[in-house]
Formats: sequence, C-alpha cells, structure tokens
Amino acid sequence: MTTDEVWKLPDIVNRFLSYRAAIPLAQEQISVMMSILKTRDMPLRSFLDLGCGDGILGAAVLGEYPTARGVLADFSEPMLEQAREQLKEYADQLVFESFDYGNPGWVNRMQDYYPFDAVVSGYSIHHQPDDRKRQVYAEIFSLLSPGGWFVNIEHVSSAAQLNIDLFENHYISARYAIEKEQGGMRTFEELTEEYRNRPDKAANILAPVELQCDWLREIGYEEVDCYFRIYELAVFAGRKPN
Ligand SMILES: C[S@@+](CC[C@H](N)C(=O)[O-])C[C@H]1O[C@@H](n2cnc3c(N)ncnc32)[C@H](O)[C@@H]1O
Repeated sequence: MTTDEVWKLPDIVNRFLSYRAAIPLAQEQISVMMSILKTRDMPLRSFLDLGCGDGILGAAVLGEYPTARGVLADFSEPMLEQAREQLKEYADQLVFESFDYGNPGWVNRMQDYYPFDAVVSGYSIHHQPDDRKRQVYAEIFSLLSPGGWFVNIEHVSSAAQLNIDLFENHYISARYAIEKEQGGMRTFEELTEEYRNRPDKAANILAPVELQCDWLREIGYEEVDCYFRIYELAVFAGRKPN
C-alpha cells in the first residue's frame, strides 16, 4: 500500500488518532517543540503544519500564540476533516490545504501564505524517500522567514535492533493498557500481531536522525540538533539565519 492510500483510509486514520497516546513521551516531544519555538524574541506570527493529521501540532502552536495565522496541510481528507473540527475556534486565521508535498509543486501553493515563522511536522516526512526528504527540508527552508524554525517530530531509524524492540514493546504495551481501560478484549499477542502486520508499515522509510541533521546544516539551517530522542522517535530542528 502506498502512503497516500494508507492515510486516506478512515480506519487507519481513526486507529492512529485513538492510539496516539501510546506513542512514548508524545506530549514531551510537543513540549520540546514548543520550548524551541519559544526561544524566538518575538511572538510567532505564522506557521505551517506539514502533514498535520488532526492538527495536534498546530493546536499546540495556537495554544501559545493564539493570534498566529496558520496553514494546515495534509493529503488525507479524513485527517483534514478532523483538523478543521479540532481547530474550529481558530477558523478565521487558518487555511486547510490538501496536497501531496511529495510533489515539489506544493511550494507554489504556499505563495499567498509564506514566509512562515515556523514550520512544524509530526511523524510525516519519513514516508518520503531520502532524496525527497532532503528536498522537502530545502523547500521548507525557502518558505521560512529569517529566524524562522523548522521543527520535525519524526520516526527515525535506529542503529541498534534493541532500540527498535524497546519501541515496539513500549507502543504495544501502551496500546494494550488503553484498550483494556476501554473494555477491550484483545490479548497482548493479538495486538503484537496487528502491530507487526500493520498496513502502513511498508510506507515507512526511516533515516538516521544524525544524517538528517547533516542535511539541514548543508541546506543552511543553524542551531541544528536532535533536541530529544526516545527509541525510534526524535525531535530535530534548525533555524533559518537572520
Ligand atoms: C502519522 S500521521 C501524523 C499526524 C500529525 N502530524 C501528528 O503528529 O499526529 C502522518 C500524516 O502525514 C500525512 N502525510 C503523509 N505523507 C504526506 C504527503 N506526502 N503529503 C501530505 N500529507 C502527508 C498523512 O496523511 C497523515 O495525516
């Protein structure tokens, strides 16, 4: 199944959204993103949430900067519907755009909205082949205002199998606990089976966070680093120079 087929399936969308809480230290990752953005001298005026899903990252940004203008972009209509609903109180200052950023033409769709003081993305760009990931990071750079941040909360590859195993174990255990609390009957083994055979797995193209930070430096971002990491998840970021 291709990435766009996967994320346009309401079942997969609903499963991801209902189990997002099983992601290890998911809230902390968003807190790190916000800590980075708050290092700016000025309040954030505009942002893009690329691969926004239900808009969870955009919501965090708006919580801190309630007057910011935002673009929430995704190619999944079920996800965009969720985002519109979740962020309806900010409707006047938001634009919801449906496009595939795998195609470089997406940048033209931003002509009326950029430059952005921040571009954020959560668990999305890892679906692109590495060459394209790097290009997307360069395209984001071109859309940032001077001093603007790109923060990517991302699924990255691990050098050690143990790290992969720890992530899987954490995720399945947390999902098991969530299901149990909701009265679910599935066993740990059944959930493990489902996780290992999930249809979106083949759509993941994971790359090491160190390599991705190097790409950001080569493109011209500054203050580039992996600011947080747990198992296969990383928050890495860079700023466009002033
Ligand atoms: C795992 S979800 C994460 C959603 C949200 N960012 C979050 O942190 O919860 C990945 C999202 O990226 C979107 N996505 C993946 N590839 C995309 C692409 N090439 N163009 C636009 N959206 C994409 C999917 O539709 C999905 O909503």
